[in-house]
Amino acid sequence: MTTRTITGTTESFAASVRVPGDKSLSHRALLFAGMAQGDSLVTGLGTGLDIATTRAALANLGVAIDGDQVRSPGVSRWATPHRSIDCGNSGTSMRLLAGVLATSRVSTVLIGDSSLSRRPMTRLEAPLRSLGGVIATTSGHAPIKVGGAEVVTGAGVTIETASAQVRSAFELGALAAKGSSSIDSPPGFRDHTERWLHAIGRGDWESDTKFRIDPGPVPPAKYDVPGDPSSAAYLWAAAAISPGSQVVTTTISLNPGRIGFLQILDDMGAAVEVVVTNSVGGDPVGDVKVTGRTIRGVTIDGDLIASALDELPLVAVVAAYGEGITTVRGAEELRVKESDRIIAVEQMMLSLGGGISTVHDGFDIVGTGFLHGGSVETYHDHRIAMAAAVAATRASGEVEIVDSDVAFVSWPDFYESLAALWS
Ligand code: S3P
Repeated sequence: MTTRTITGTTESFAASVRVPGDKSLSHRALLFAGMAQGDSLVTGLGTGLDIATTRAALANLGVAIDGDQVRSPGVSRWATPHRSIDCGNSGTSMRLLAGVLATSRVSTVLIGDSSLSRRPMTRLEAPLRSLGGVIATTSGHAPIKVGGAEVVTGAGVTIETASAQVRSAFELGALAAKGSSSIDSPPGFRDHTERWLHAIGRGDWESDTKFRIDPGPVPPAKYDVPGDPSSAAYLWAAAAISPGSQVVTTTISLNPGRIGFLQILDDMGAAVEVVVTNSVGGDPVGDVKVTGRTIRGVTIDGDLIASALDELPLVAVVAAYGEGITTVRGAEELRVKESDRIIAVEQMMLSLGGGISTVHDGFDIVGTGFLHGGSVETYHDHRIAMAAAVAATRASGEVEIVDSDVAFVSWPDFYESLAALWS
């Protein structure tokens, strides 16, 4: 296990950064390319271990991937893997693959590491079974047996959580059905899969949240993955807690379900400028500039939670360096991420001298403008490691990050990129 120590600074910075390809879109780009029959070209893919997991999973299914080039026999001719498919730490790999495989002829088992094996998978079962998909979890968890479906029919489902992973699993599975399907859920989710399906003529919106899937093959893709807003968020936060500092991140995916954190930073008093420059696969793409100013406490709940979910540990860090109380509610999904992020955030704050109280679906942070040094337990969660590193950049003493390399799950060069802001 690696431990890293970071020393804070009071110096400000001005930097422009191109962050690695978006993790959510990289999984989807690889899956869509892997499902299509023929040759696809997917550039700008994310560099983290989770993306390597999806690459390896597809290779086990008979998809040839060489760098950016993907050659597939098409999902209906995928090979049956000789052994279980290991999804490592990646919930998106496991859930999206479960969707595709449940309604396919390929019968296999999806396994994951100890963190992924603790995460809830029951939520996949009813939606996929309503299509005639075959899926069996192990008491609601991985290992998951999937596939070997015989009759796949269209279905209409409504799910209770604004989960893009569950929606996407259903939507990808529904491509193999005999008739159209639809899915509805609460709002706030990242709608990358829906935008992609719409762009290739395989579905359309029936309301703000209800999407119809029209079954059929997907075409080979030529796709350039934009930068990951959930990675850029660490740099935005570093600027936000350092008055006068400024960071520009270029070519970022600006899907509305991904940029709740920018709204929060703006509400907290940071200067946020967004310029949309392009659109890729139906997703807006653009440049984001964040300038640090005095931060004040805010209340975060409702739809904003889903669109800032992965960034809520960072909200705690930014809030601690501000003034006043920040309240986060309606975020019980934090309990079932790569770690229980409410406990992990609480422990991080307590180690660094922050003021925090927690409830079942969120936390309150008392902004004092100050964190001290300490040792942060990451609970094998990349987002906790990276939030701790951002906290460390302004802490009054050294911050030790235990199991720091877990950050490589989403961003192998993260620590160097963070330090480079000041160079
Ligand atoms: C993701 C969806 C979100 C997010 C995760 C990636 C995706 O999870 O937290 O990091 O790529 O679809 P949920 O769908 O469980 O909310």
